[in-house]
Amino acid sequence: MPKYRNSLKVIEKSKDPKMSRRRFLGLVGWGAVAGVGGVLGAAMLGYLYPNALKIPPSIFSIGRPEDVLSSEGRVFIPAQKAFLEVARGRVRCMTAICTHLGCTVNSAETGFKCPCHGSTYDLDGRNTGGPAPLPLVYYQIYKGASGDLLVDKSRVIQIPKEAWFSSTA
Ligand code: FES
Repeated sequence: MPKYRNSLKVIEKSKDPKMSRRRFLGLVGWGAVAGVGGVLGAAMLGYLYPNALKIPPSIFSIGRPEDVLSSEGRVFIPAQKAFLEVARGRVRCMTAICTHLGCTVNSAETGFKCPCHGSTYDLDGRNTGGPAPLPLVYYQIYKGASGDLLVDKSRVIQIPKEAWFSSTA
């Protein structure tokens, strides 16, 4: 405490619990440094953490072979942006992602048509018109350990007739 109540004179080494301005600003500065360091550290750790769990798995099941192969026709799988085609006891899976800029193509009478810029593909996914530079690709289908038919989107097949899977193959 100051010697006199209205005096500005502060007695050194008094037991005044007040924090000096210098000490207060120093603590605020260190707090700010620690906060920025924490945010940057968290961002760096987030960068180092593998994002493999954040992306959808490249392999998905299309069901039991007896169920899949007993049907006929072409169905769109929205979650996978892919078409599944079953014919004469065989099945193949083709991407629905346009090779121009990545829009989802629609099934059409003559094959597939992209609603974005008008690219067209034939029934085997070959590009036949519009700005699409490449054909639509197929994905590898195989029978998994569980007995289900699995589609692996990381294994691409370029040749349409090689994309068919049949239980006898
Ligand atoms: S994205 Fe399909 S034609 Fe452009």
